[in-house]
Amino acid sequence: MSIMVIAAHPHLDKSRANQALVHELQHHADIYVRDLYQDYPGGDIDVEREQQLLTQYDRVVFQFPFYWYSCPPLLKKWFDDVLTYGWAHGPEGKALKDKEFILATTTGGTEQSYQSGGDNGFTISELLRPIQRTLTRCNGIYLPAFVAFHVTPGTDAYLAAEAKRYAEHIQSSARALMH
Ligand SMILES: Cc1cc2nc3c(=O)[nH]c(=O)nc-3n(C[C@H](O)[C@H](O)[C@H](O)COP(=O)(O)O)c2cc1C
Repeated sequence: MSIMVIAAHPHLDKSRANQALVHELQHHADIYVRDLYQDYPGGDIDVEREQQLLTQYDRVVFQFPFYWYSCPPLLKKWFDDVLTYGWAHGPEGKALKDKEFILATTTGGTEQSYQSGGDNGFTISELLRPIQRTLTRCNGIYLPAFVAFHVTPGTDAYLAAEAKRYAEHIQSSARALMH
């Protein structure tokens, strides 16, 4: 199974958590990892290139720090620009049919704060639903998200362990992730 990871962090060079996740994937030469902000510093996304890349991989992972209960703006722009009507959705838009998608995010908040009755008021699954629905609207298969919680005060050892869990998660078969 071919995997492309689109990492979307505005300052990956200064990041701890997302950088730890990306570094771990360097041990997996078969996974294609990209830094979206490095690819498009001016924010002008090459839609044709992105659509072509999407068709080449069986599974696409969107990795990002959780910002204001959503993704950073360049990833939102990527969804807006790349998932075009007639290509990704609409009666003729079947290019992403049955492609597997995984969201991978890091939060400042604790796992407990994202549980039912927790401080954030909603579970992480509920908060990720707009992106989930975007991907299923485009006929993709939405697999369970990977979430590294409470990363800000996390020790290097915690981040390294989460990074290993991340690498395992995104390489697991759809069947294993769904059960
Ligand atoms: C603009 C901004 C918005 C944020 N919003 C949230 C949020 O809504 N929920 C949350 O748990 N953490 C939030 N955080 C904390 C980030 O998720 C956290 O700093 C990030 O996951 C750390 O990853 P990094 O080390 O790769 O930068 C926010 C941080 C910033 C800078």
